[in-house]
Amino acid sequence: MSESRFVVAIDGPAGSGKSTVTHLLAKRLGFAHIDTGALYRAIAYRATQMKTSLDDALALGKIATSAKLSFQWLNDRNQIFLDGENVSSMIRTPEISMAASKISAYAPVRDALLQLQRDLGARPPGAVLEGRDIGTVVFPNAEIKFYLNASVDSRARRRMVELEEKGTFLDFEEVKRQVVERDKGDMERKVAPLKKADDAIEVDTTNMNVEQVVDFLFALVQERRGLAQSGRSKGR
Ligand code: DC
Repeated sequence: MSESRFVVAIDGPAGSGKSTVTHLLAKRLGFAHIDTGALYRAIAYRATQMKTSLDDALALGKIATSAKLSFQWLNDRNQIFLDGENVSSMIRTPEISMAASKISAYAPVRDALLQLQRDLGARPPGAVLEGRDIGTVVFPNAEIKFYLNASVDSRARRRMVELEEKGTFLDFEEVKRQVVERDKGDMERKVAPLKKADDAIEVDTTNMNVEQVVDFLFALVQERRGLAQSGRSKGR
């Protein structure tokens, strides 16, 4: 029997609170935190650096295949390394957000990142993965799946605060326009679009603060772990 591991899948649109919640939940569970959006962002960053056309799916797929991507905890933050370089802050600009959304629609890019996500998520004792297609494609058999959502205004407000903390100041309507445009692209693409898995638990975070969301998810994960453990002991 393989070593037991527990996968928590968290999907949802931009600004639904996934990153902060995943970070805290993973910490509380003692699990790995896998920010799959950072992988797409790192490829988008490399492509813009290399001046590769964002319409060239095959060239972008090659970049994704050859890129060496890994995560490391530094200063209590999950940092992403691309070919040995810490690119965590460079990938958080509005331009890279749009570019990541665009390149994530291409099958060669998604295919190149799929196995890496599965490998990262399969490490015991468990992992919390956040993204758009974790519960539908990357880990369709995840032990528990959540779909975080919130009103468009509150998602845009959260995104605006995140950008301001990093020194980028945009007006609210512009941030909202970007959030809506990105979600539309992520939901309407043909390959692995953003959607709630049938068996995902939907959580509307509009009127919840971070602690409330983390407490809620943590309680459900622990409850499911109890069930999953008794299932395993029966020979699963
Ligand atoms: O989660 P994020 O905002 O950092 O993700 C950036 C983009 O990457 C997002 O707009 C779509 C893409 N993405 C994806 O297609 N699939 C994932 N599992 C994660 C992100």
